Amino acid sequence: MHEEFTLRCDHEQFISSQAVKLVCKNGKTIMVVKFKQQFFAYLNECQHLPVELDWEEGKFFDSDNQYIICSTHGALYDPQTGHCISGPCKSKYLHKLDVIQLKHQIRIIYDGS
Ligand code: FES
Repeated sequence: MHEEFTLRCDHEQFISSQAVKLVCKNGKTIMVVKFKQQFFAYLNECQHLPVELDWEEGKFFDSDNQYIICSTHGALYDPQTGHCISGPCKSKYLHKLDVIQLKHQIRIIYDGS
């Protein structure tokens, strides 16, 4: 049985960054991304190999800031859906997490799987 986790980050954290990396109590990391004024959260794990995506701590986007890019082999993921549109795991999806947007905060529900 998995333990459910609730993680939070503040809107202020997105003033200078398009993404925020959160560390869960079970050691896994989560990326929260802001794209087209909306927030999305995914488990920070590529669908090709079980490695983290960020190419530099907390940096997830490609040079055009249009796609989440895996730092290992360059898979590109749509930030709104987590769908891989290019790379060795093409057509797979990142593990999407529920996001609750509050006035000053973003709450992420993670089922621990
Ligand atoms: S590990 Fe991410 S594309 Fe290969």
